[in-house]
Amino acid sequence: MILGIESTAHTFGIGVVDKGKVLCNVKDSYTTEKGGIVPMDAAKHHNEISEELFNKALKEVGISEKDINAIAISASPGLAPCLVEGMKFAKKKAGELNVPIVPVNHCVAHLEIGKLTGAKDPVLLYASGANTQIIAYAGGKYRVFGETLDIGVGNFIDNFARCAGIGFPGGPKIQKLAETGKYIELPYSIKGMDVAFSGILTKLKQMYDSGKYKLEDLSYSLQETIFAMLVEASERALAHTGKKELLLGGGVACNTRLQEMCKIMCEERGCKFFVPSRDLLVDNGGMIAYLGEIMFDKGFGVSGKEIDKVDINPRERTDDIEVIWR
Ligand code: ATP
Ligand code: FE2
Repeated sequence: MILGIESTAHTFGIGVVDKGKVLCNVKDSYTTEKGGIVPMDAAKHHNEISEELFNKALKEVGISEKDINAIAISASPGLAPCLVEGMKFAKKKAGELNVPIVPVNHCVAHLEIGKLTGAKDPVLLYASGANTQIIAYAGGKYRVFGETLDIGVGNFIDNFARCAGIGFPGGPKIQKLAETGKYIELPYSIKGMDVAFSGILTKLKQMYDSGKYKLEDLSYSLQETIFAMLVEASERALAHTGKKELLLGGGVACNTRLQEMCKIMCEERGCKFFVPSRDLLVDNGGMIAYLGEIMFDKGFGVSGKEIDKVDINPRERTDDIEVIWR
């Protein structure tokens, strides 16, 4: 059994996986009523909650510490103070239990967990807080076919939500507001396979500050515009690679309007569309344990004195990783 720890940003999560099955997936997230995420505060949250969540996970699966064979930890990428907290906790537990550590890339975990949906060789639309990438496997790596040129789509939504004073995370609130909104034209910013959000964000903020527009209408138009950009780039990646499956990943993929738009595009192209359950889309320890198990089985565990050398890597990219387990 592999225990996975997630702590790259707002969420501290623990999951337990055995032979590709997620046996438990508990988490606790740092949220705010008004402002954005403060990395040091999020790290403090993780420190305070870690032991309690660890025990909760063991209890849920009905196992004792001794049943754990290795500890997988999201070592990259993310907010440094949060990564440090998770790594400290993973090392402490690995020491106490005398088991290896498996350092895992958080983005690759978001992708790999999609296999539980039945997708075999998909194009992945990875839409999370800090990341927005269109990825497909080719020649030993997850290649990035298109990505944001500035901020991640989730951070874009959260940033606008913060300006509108509706707190963090903004995604679910914007989705709710959009239900009763109507369309206002916004800039549409796609350059080849890449997308850019900062210009649209500036425009939206100006429109909100002018007091002339309803937040519902701005929310609706925001969703329609940026999701259309993501779907356009994904469709082009499908056409280019000749792949026949689209998989969604990352927290923004929880958005039911984005899911609907992807589904329509896939139906029109004769492709299959896959989306993991909400629990596995947002940051979670289950996906870390899931990838950790695959890597551990291929000999990626680090044990003994070598554990001291395992470090966090806040900026590691998806296409830095050699995917030798496929
Ligand atoms: P990364 O994985 O890039 O490090 P992250 O860990 O912050 O980023 P996730 O937990 O995967 O990202 O996703 C969090 C983001 O998902 C937040 O920006 C949040 O606003 C967004 N989000 C969650 N639910 C929805 C929704 N229903 N609609 C749109 N966005 C959503
Ligand atoms: Fe994430």
